[in-house]
Amino acid sequence: ICDRVLHFILLLLESLINSTTGYGQDGKFSGPLKPMTFPIFEGQEPSQVIYQFKANPPAVSFELTGETDNIFKIQPDGLLYYVRALDRETRATHNLQIAALDAHGATVEGPVPITIEVKDINDNRPMFLQSKYEGSVRQNSRPGKPFMYVNATDLDDPATPNGQLFYQIVIQLPNVNGVMYFQINNKTGAISLTRQGSQELDPVKNPSYNLVVSVKDMGGQSENSFSDTASVDITVKENIWKAPEPVEVLENSTDPHPLKITQVRWNEPGAHYSLADRDKLPIFPFSIDQEGDIYVTQPLDREKKDSYIFYATAKDEYGKPLAFPLEIHVKVKDINDNPPTCPSPVTVFEVQENEGLGSSIGTFTALDMDEENTIHSVLKYKIVSQTPQIPNDGLFLVEEYSGKFQLAKQSLKKQDAPQYNLTVEVSDQDFKTLCFVQINVIDINDQIPIFEKSDYGNLTLPEDTAVGTIILTIQATDDDEPFTGSSKILYRIIQGDNEGRLGVDTDHHTNRGYVTIKKPLDFETAAFSSIVFKAENPEPLVSGVTYNASSFASFKLIVTDVNEAPVFSQDVFQAKVREDVAVGTKVGNVTAWDPEGLAISYSLTGDTRGWLKIDPGTGEIFSVAPLDREAESVYRVQVVATEVGGSSLRSTSNFHLTLTDVNDNPPRLAKDYSGLFLCHPLSTPGSVIFEATDDDQQSFRGPQFTFALGSETLQNDWEVSKINGELSTKHTDFEERLYKISIQFCIFTEFFVQIYLFCFSVTFCTCVDGKCFRPVGSQEGRPTVGMAVGILLTTLLVIGRYSCSDVEMPGILQNCPLYIFMTGPDSL
Ligand SMILES: *[C@@H]1O[C@H](CO)[C@@H](O)[C@H](O)[C@H]1NC(C)=O
Ligand SMILES: *[C@@H]1O[C@H](CO)[C@@H](O)[C@H](O)[C@H]1NC(C)=O
Ligand SMILES: *[C@@H]1O[C@H](CO)[C@@H](O)[C@H](O)[C@H]1NC(C)=O
Ligand SMILES: *[C@@H]1O[C@H](CO)[C@@H](O)[C@H](O)[C@H]1NC(C)=O
Ligand SMILES: *[C@@H]1O[C@H](CO)[C@@H](O)[C@H](O)[C@H]1NC(C)=O
Ligand SMILES: *[C@@H]1O[C@H](CO)[C@@H](O)[C@H](O)[C@H]1NC(C)=O
Ligand SMILES: *[C@@H]1O[C@H](CO)[C@@H](O)[C@H](O)[C@H]1NC(C)=O
Repeated sequence: ICDRVLHFILLLLESLINSTTGYGQDGKFSGPLKPMTFPIFEGQEPSQVIYQFKANPPAVSFELTGETDNIFKIQPDGLLYYVRALDRETRATHNLQIAALDAHGATVEGPVPITIEVKDINDNRPMFLQSKYEGSVRQNSRPGKPFMYVNATDLDDPATPNGQLFYQIVIQLPNVNGVMYFQINNKTGAISLTRQGSQELDPVKNPSYNLVVSVKDMGGQSENSFSDTASVDITVKENIWKAPEPVEVLENSTDPHPLKITQVRWNEPGAHYSLADRDKLPIFPFSIDQEGDIYVTQPLDREKKDSYIFYATAKDEYGKPLAFPLEIHVKVKDINDNPPTCPSPVTVFEVQENEGLGSSIGTFTALDMDEENTIHSVLKYKIVSQTPQIPNDGLFLVEEYSGKFQLAKQSLKKQDAPQYNLTVEVSDQDFKTLCFVQINVIDINDQIPIFEKSDYGNLTLPEDTAVGTIILTIQATDDDEPFTGSSKILYRIIQGDNEGRLGVDTDHHTNRGYVTIKKPLDFETAAFSSIVFKAENPEPLVSGVTYNASSFASFKLIVTDVNEAPVFSQDVFQAKVREDVAVGTKVGNVTAWDPEGLAISYSLTGDTRGWLKIDPGTGEIFSVAPLDREAESVYRVQVVATEVGGSSLRSTSNFHLTLTDVNDNPPRLAKDYSGLFLCHPLSTPGSVIFEATDDDQQSFRGPQFTFALGSETLQNDWEVSKINGELSTKHTDFEERLYKISIQFCIFTEFFVQIYLFCFSVTFCTCVDGKCFRPVGSQEGRPTVGMAVGILLTTLLVIGRYSCSDVEMPGILQNCPLYIFMTGPDSL
């Protein structure tokens, strides 16, 4: 820096200091020699004044020592400045000393310590320590448990956002339906399985995956963050920690216990196994050893408990579970160890006097605790004795397998014996049991039930009368022997209620019948019904006696209307359309009807985006605006059906419109790359970085972008890296002007290749220590002392010695043409 310029600056500074209130003799920019600390941003324009020290006689000049690195200088008159941009990553703190000297060069004041704190700017890209990582994961590993790390470094200050790294998985290959099997901790780079990954990864289906992970600085939260990518290959290994097949254990086993029944194995040796009882049984008859072998510890009893479910866990030496517990299913296999049992100490049947030969008396069913539908529980019946044997033995027979009792020889007479006691032998495969059956001979059923009245009149009910309501009591009487099947009455509705809306429950002590609503009444389908009851006995009538009109009764049921709201056929109507359907397309329809048959008018509510309309008459739904999946992937509105006329009752249902993605968002540059520049003249080939992105659903985004130069003529001067957006010069021989660059983004998807062409510009401009001209105020952060002066200085220098004003920085050219080619896989 030539003295002339500095002098000019000093004059300017002086005038600034003097004209500004608050900056006195010992103000922010100047003062006597004392220990001081100056924070200065790295990478600043050079030749910046830091402070003006004032000398007190006899001091006439100053001397600077310490870690100056030939950057910091002091003028004899006390002006402290620096001549090159600072680099925090080279030295974060410069410890300087300044002494005041007299005319003979002897120290008269100081030296005092002057500390320069170099503040960080984001001038370093994060870099993965490896460009390729390899790892492996066991199938079914716990979600969120890291199985490998990727690691990047950034030379910037980790205490500032500049050095704070943010990891992301950009691509997972293969990727079916956009389901991510892997996740990365955005701070630590730890890679683990997602819940789906834990459940679905299967080395048989797919033994390896490839991820592209990115790391960004600025905590990933800034448009201006730098990034790097790395490739991660992951091998999926089979999991032998699997639930064993369900085990069958024979009950009542006489083998010595404990008895090994199955086993589990952790993927590596050294696991600690234990069992957990899901049902908290008082006695838990299983155990596991440290090999993972599972034992039953005592004989089981299927009739007490026929299956067991419990868990096997594997833990590490600190008692932390290594994986999900496995469910062990044990089924207890039946043996025939239970004799048949009688249903009750004595089973009672009735038979009428005079009933004919072969008449069915009843069915006897004994029980067997052993497993149903096996040979162990198939029962056989046999009558072994009859008391009394009057008029003779063998009056009854029983069907061998069904247990059905019949009259074997003749009708019975109460005078002969009113009661018979039978002993029945019931046998299964191995056991025999005796049961007792008592047969009572009862009076003949020669009386029919007679209704107290044949017409119970008219009954008017609103249609919303509750189910369960008793609406009528009916009564018939029967003069046969009380409390037998000859006098017991069952009421049946034989006419007027095909829908089964009514039922009759009988009180067997009084033979009273209670008519009850079993299903909702409906004015619209059955406003008037004529109901007919029949009263019957469970025992058949003796021949010659028949039910006559006295055993029937009727009543008229009149149901009155209650106005009901319209009814939708579904609670939720679903439809699916492509997001790019033309405005006016029918996207779905809904249907409702009014129980009273009134006309219905449809309308929509909740159409917050104004995308849909409904035809009030037909319920058809149409789009009225362009739809956008990226705004709503499932658009939910409510449909309302209103009665036209009447009381305008209304009801509501839901309409869910699923929008399927179409690739309607072209990729774009991730941000505005105005101001990409390289310093002219180039000393070594240089490069600029850019990034592309796409707003569509991931399946359309394709595996990745690849980049290529947009035209062949560019290839003489430039090259672009295929994967990263890095544009490099091929030589150093460029003019000081703006170069328009076109870049192809190629997107490979399963079905097609898309090529997009983008344009932006790179400016070659004369630089001031690595910085192109930038207007005042574009620096980040609050200006510090050093920085404020720096801006002033740079501006002056630019005006004085350089002319960058003709080097405007255009952004992306607005009218750059965009080409899209789509080709099939053949031409690929
Ligand atoms: C990442 O690398 C840095 C520097 O080598 C090291 O200090 C840090 O421990 C590493 N982190 C992990 C998770 O390996
Ligand atoms: C980073 O991960 C944490 C959880 O690990 C999450 O809460 C946070 O939202 C993530 N940050 C971003 C920007 O995604
Ligand atoms: C085991 O079987 C024998 C007959 O084989 C039987 O006496 C015993 O009660 C059975 N034990 C259990 C627990 O079922
Ligand atoms: C039948 O057995 C019952 C006891 O269960 C007894 O009271 C009754 O007198 C017996 N009847 C005849 C006819 O043996
Ligand atoms: C019962 O209703 C019927 C038909 O509605 C009617 O003809 C009859 O007169 C009514 N009887 C009584 C007693 O109200
Ligand atoms: C039905 O039969 C009974 C006798 O069993 C008789 O008393 C009654 O009058 C009969 N009813 C009709 C309507 O015939
Ligand atoms: C839509 O309308 C058609 C006839 O136009 C009908 O068959 C279909 O059931 C309706 N769909 C719904 C959900 O109402």
